[in-house]
Amino acid sequence: MYGLVNKAVEELVVSNFGEEKWELIKTKAGVDVDVFISNEGYPDELTYKLVSAAVEVLGLPAEEILIAFGQHWVLETAVKSYGPLMKSGGANLKDFLVNLPNFHTRVAMIYPNLEPPRFRCTDVTDDGLHLHYHSHRPGLTAFVTGLIQGLGKLYETPCSSTVLERKDQGADHDIFAITWESPATS
Ligand code: HEM
Repeated sequence: MYGLVNKAVEELVVSNFGEEKWELIKTKAGVDVDVFISNEGYPDELTYKLVSAAVEVLGLPAEEILIAFGQHWVLETAVKSYGPLMKSGGANLKDFLVNLPNFHTRVAMIYPNLEPPRFRCTDVTDDGLHLHYHSHRPGLTAFVTGLIQGLGKLYETPCSSTVLERKDQGADHDIFAITWESPATS
């Protein structure tokens, strides 16, 4: 994965737990990288090792860390470093989610070797939809839950999501049922 992912993990840990914990996590993970370069590729395995080491060092469940990382990704990394790109994704939560299937096509203009996830929306109504998430990478269901929560906060639209089907329990792919408070109509 591109280095900006590892950089974001570093930011999340340092801003919440301090520099020392981050150094401990890198040591435990056997990662000997001083500075991650955003537009350089790193093995996926390195990111997974960082998250596993964070689970041990911080004493938090992997799911909790991945949810926090998803929120951080939207509210800190994406909004602060890629504001115009995020804005182009939609003017409200529903539009952003409906446009999500095409989102990483635009990201790939900046990061040409991107191996993005694939999203699909079905069952779209005024106050909810089903988000289908396809990826060759295992174990990221909770990350997507965090991303959804981050988007709800970004658009100031209270929302909730449940996982209807999980790939790690034998389904073809993960399916999230997302509902939100529909905006008041006058
Ligand atoms: C400007 C904002 C964004 C940028 C720059 C971005 C960029 C990236 C990058 C670089 C990766 C790693 C893949 C690789 O390096 O091959 C990635 C993965 C991923 N992105 Fe995005 N992304 C953005 C927004 C989003 C949003 C809004 C969502 C969903 C709500 C999302 C969902 C994911 C997921 C789930 C992965 C994990 C990879 C996988 O499942 O295989 N991203 N993205």
